[in-house]
Amino acid sequence: MRIYKVGGAVRDRLLGRPVTDIDWVVVGASAQDMLAKGFRPVGADFPVFLHPKTGEEYALARTERKSGRGYGGFTFHASPEVTLEEDLIRRDLTINAMAEDDQGLLTDPYSGQKDLEDRLLRHVSPAFAEDPLRVLRVARFAARYAELGFRVAPETLELMRQLSESGELQALTAERSWKEISRALMEDQPQVFIQVLRDCGALAVLMPEVDALFGVPQPPAHHPEIDTGVHTLSVLQQAAQHQQPLSVRWACLLHDLGKGVTPEEEWPRHIGHEHKGLELIKAVNERFKAPRECQELALLVGQYHTHAHKAQELKASTLLELLQSFDVFRRPQRFEEFIAACEMDARGRLGLESRPYPQADYLRGAASVARAVAVQPLLEQGFKGPELGEALRLERLKAIKAYKEQQSS
Ligand code: CTP
Repeated sequence: MRIYKVGGAVRDRLLGRPVTDIDWVVVGASAQDMLAKGFRPVGADFPVFLHPKTGEEYALARTERKSGRGYGGFTFHASPEVTLEEDLIRRDLTINAMAEDDQGLLTDPYSGQKDLEDRLLRHVSPAFAEDPLRVLRVARFAARYAELGFRVAPETLELMRQLSESGELQALTAERSWKEISRALMEDQPQVFIQVLRDCGALAVLMPEVDALFGVPQPPAHHPEIDTGVHTLSVLQQAAQHQQPLSVRWACLLHDLGKGVTPEEEWPRHIGHEHKGLELIKAVNERFKAPRECQELALLVGQYHTHAHKAQELKASTLLELLQSFDVFRRPQRFEEFIAACEMDARGRLGLESRPYPQADYLRGAASVARAVAVQPLLEQGFKGPELGEALRLERLKAIKAYKEQQSS
């Protein structure tokens, strides 16, 4: 039995990046050998085992054949006869297809090291096509290593295009796709993920609502970058630069979907895009079973982002309705995330990236005066039930009116 370190651990060590988890491949062993050594099997017929002490993953060297569509459609062939080279050739990228033994000796049959030097994300062999999730993985690696100058090899992009056109991507489960999407959005350059998906035609399959934004113009006075798709990528880039959490990044990606369905004769204006986008945002949310906080924030940002941009012009009653829609009295954090997403939207415009966004503090101030209205005096006056709610609303309205006056003086 020979054991090698493989995949991301080898790649990231060679790149001088921190190694988080280590995957191992075991050559010359059977499942029985592993069980005899105390390893715990991960699944009934999946040749992966967990180390009894470290909990790290040890996979038997295997070749893989495709037997059906999508996940679960794999059959694995693992046996003590499968060589290291046979295992490595069925991996996704050359930079992920290197192995290291316990002496630190590298096995690199597919020139992974050279591709690391050349900054190339290149598939190892046609076996790449066995798992369509790899289209998303490559786009995610492109986002992660963009700052190092990596790009997708043209022949790999072509293969990704063929996979996207084949209909295989539709067979991916929501869970597997979301895992890739959410990890990619948390990279430093998440806009590269979307751009690469677009370049290979995968975006049109996975998120046609986002793909539709490219080529749609906006008024140059507000949006010097003009193109709505380009704007969306910049908003995402800003969100990463400002270290925003996943929910904010997800909301940034989806905030303008309504602009993709504006009739051409109305271009470059997009009246009512906030409302028109809601159905589309809901569809994307549900397609990937995004976590609840991501779904909610995306819908709220979609509906109210232009409110935030015009915060100082809103009537007191509209401001209060906005605060109520966010349930800001009980969920202040979500309102903060909304403000953050709107600020990223404003900054994601060509040449306006560093322009101040006073709307943010203005909205925070309004929320804080509304929140400061005390219930106790109203209870003491004998209000209860719906009357109490109405009295509270009027007090909050008064407080916001006073706030507006104070802010404008
Ligand atoms: N792998 C693959 N195809 C996949 C998933 C994984 O070929 N769809 C192989 C690659 O060789 C990869 C290794 O399995 O390097 C480990 O996969 P994983 O732990 O998912 O990714 P890492 O490459 O370690 O990358 P990350 O840093 O993102 O975890």
